Amino acid sequence: MKIQVTCCDCLKGMKKLKNESVDMIISSPPYNRSIGGSWKLYQSYDDNLSIDEYLDWSLNLFKEFNRILKKDGVVCWNFNYSMYTVDLPYRLILKLQESGLKLYDTICWNKGTGVLHPTSRCLSRLWEFVWVFAKQDEYYINKRDKSIYKYFQGNFPTNLLNITIRTDGQYRNEIHHTATFPVKLPEVLIKLYTKEEATILDPFMGSGTTARACQNINRNCIGFDIESDYVEYTKKSLNQKNLLNDQVVLVIDEERENKIKELLTKYDGMIDRQGAIKMLEAKE
Ligand SMILES: C[S@@+](CC[C@H](N)C(=O)[O-])C[C@H]1O[C@@H](n2cnc3c(N)ncnc32)[C@H](O)[C@@H]1O
Repeated sequence: MKIQVTCCDCLKGMKKLKNESVDMIISSPPYNRSIGGSWKLYQSYDDNLSIDEYLDWSLNLFKEFNRILKKDGVVCWNFNYSMYTVDLPYRLILKLQESGLKLYDTICWNKGTGVLHPTSRCLSRLWEFVWVFAKQDEYYINKRDKSIYKYFQGNFPTNLLNITIRTDGQYRNEIHHTATFPVKLPEVLIKLYTKEEATILDPFMGSGTTARACQNINRNCIGFDIESDYVEYTKKSLNQKNLLNDQVVLVIDEERENKIKELLTKYDGMIDRQGAIKMLEAKE
């Protein structure tokens, strides 16, 4: 099992992955939640694009997913709306299908708790969407694995997932992030949609929950996050022996690897691998 976490914009990070090289993409992206309000959820950006900008940005992500996803792979996209963007999920689903990926399932994640908005007429939101997109009808799914039943209170898997999130202050301090999903969520979905040793990508990895799930159930993981704090936290919290520090997992672009080697040869001992990567990125 190999886990690679990198601090970068995920669109840039994905450019380095080969065509049809990952078995599953699972993530909870920024929901554009700050639109209409003045609160700030993340440190380095505002999460308040215009709706059209957000739809275009999301479509660009999905086009890249379509390129890197294996033929029988799936994308599990966890999404929620704010009181200012109640229709965004439906607009987003239509937009995302322009990428060539098709919506095959909608799972309701009942998180058991929600924020009350005393000034809004909307009801408190206790659940979130998990959309399942794939390239083709024959995507991989394994509903018969008995070890999955425990996530469904001992029953056959359904499209209602009851996984309560912890919201207490102690937990928030421990995980070092404001918008995490519980580890059981990626765990059950990864088990359902992949085999052991599959390669999973979380482009918005946050505090590394998906990487921890992969570590628990023996999958390879590639994770990106734009905030270096989160990436450092993830690296520290994972089992170090599985963690690749800027090494390359099986899916990395060979062409790029050759360019790195060329630079190392050209500058013969004057730069190390990190230096070569920086030079390449400056050119990209
Ligand atoms: C909803 S959080 C994900 C939380 C994660 N599921 C967890 O359990 O910790 C979204 C994450 O996306 C990151 N992010 C935002 N824009 C990004 C980008 N362009 N590329 C990579 N990461 C980004 C944020 O820093 C944030 O940690």
